[in-house]
Amino acid sequence: MQTLIVNLSQENKLSYPIFIGNVLHKKIEKYLKNKTVVIVTDNIVKLIYKEKYKNYFENKGYRTHLISFKNGELSKNQKVKTMIEEKMLKLNIDRDALVIALGGGVVGDMAGFVAATYMRGISYIQIPTTLLAMVDSSIGGKTAIDTPYGKNLLGVFWQPVAVFIDVEFLSSLPGSHINNGLVEAIKMFITSDARAFTYVEKNIEKIIAHDPILLKDIITRAIKIKSRVISEDMKDYGARMILNFGHTMGHAIEFVANYKLLHGYAVGLGIVIESRISMMLGLLDCATVERIENVLAKLGISKKLLRNIKLNNMLNVIKMDKKAKKNNAHFILLNKIGSVFKENSKIAHSVTDEIVTKAINDFMRV
Ligand SMILES: NC(=O)c1ccc[n+]([C@@H]2O[C@H](COP(=O)([O-])OP(=O)(O)OC[C@H]3O[C@@H](n4cnc5c(N)ncnc54)[C@H](O)[C@@H]3O)[C@@H](O)[C@H]2O)c1
Repeated sequence: MQTLIVNLSQENKLSYPIFIGNVLHKKIEKYLKNKTVVIVTDNIVKLIYKEKYKNYFENKGYRTHLISFKNGELSKNQKVKTMIEEKMLKLNIDRDALVIALGGGVVGDMAGFVAATYMRGISYIQIPTTLLAMVDSSIGGKTAIDTPYGKNLLGVFWQPVAVFIDVEFLSSLPGSHINNGLVEAIKMFITSDARAFTYVEKNIEKIIAHDPILLKDIITRAIKIKSRVISEDMKDYGARMILNFGHTMGHAIEFVANYKLLHGYAVGLGIVIESRISMMLGLLDCATVERIENVLAKLGISKKLLRNIKLNNMLNVIKMDKKAKKNNAHFILLNKIGSVFKENSKIAHSVTDEIVTKAINDFMRV
């Protein structure tokens, strides 16, 4: 069992461990002592893992409840949050209870938000079951639900007391969802860890074959980056923005594709186009853009994904992005692999409409 620490030195008591290895290990029992356990999950994860997890805690003598909701982003809403809270209230769950988020990013964001507001805040543990949740959403304490006005608009920062990561969950995860998480990990390597990116390049064939040893290695490397970024900027005021590389364009692509593309695939396309923007601004060399495109192409990130999607409205959509200021699109830009471009410590940069349009058109032409 490997242990990493999310070190929140500004508010040290909020620091927490990330355990990588078998979840059902004596380490988890430390967090369960004298606790009522509420496992929050979705119907798919419940179907596959309920027996193993609920039984484990029950057999150890913990009062254990399981509350589930329908899988998918559409459930990340106020109605489902209220349903979970009312079930917990009916069960007389008190402030000493422990919520366990067992699932992907949707479950993690929802269960974390429930834990944050239930009786003014109770403890929770993240047990991520998708690769995206392992490398990204389970760490950092961002909790949220979606609203009719936009995604993730209601939420708070509420750090888990621990995160347990077990690659075993990936054996049941569909391949497209593995790629979905791999893109987020590769994004972190591109912006922050050149050696990890080279490692991915060298081992790409085994990675796309989902070799568990390599996946575990990638998860560990990505978590180290995410934990470091969070330690520097727990509440997303500055340094954490680096994680948005590929996301200005990625969010716009998700929107114009009517959310039919998985987030990671849209971000993958965003990474390619934003790398091209960096090249057009003279920040990044052509050979590096090719390296990035080649790795992502192995995961199925290519312009073919945009077949039948009209891109002519992209500029307007990009300008709706949170980072757009004074009606100009803002992007995280690359200097080289492992380093983002900073100017006077600014991380997000304004780019003209002409360059953005040309980068999209050039990508669609190749
Ligand atoms: N809080 C954060 O910092 C943060 C960061 C990134 C993304 N997110 C959020 O994460 C969500 C996306 O997360 P996701 O990609 O994990 O999606 P998800 O939670 O919807 O999971 C994807 C699908 O995989 C299924 N699944 C989960 N684990 C499985 C397993 N082991 N085997 C088989 N099927 C399994 C789920 O039932 C679901 O159908 C979005 O809502 C996004 O906003 C949050």
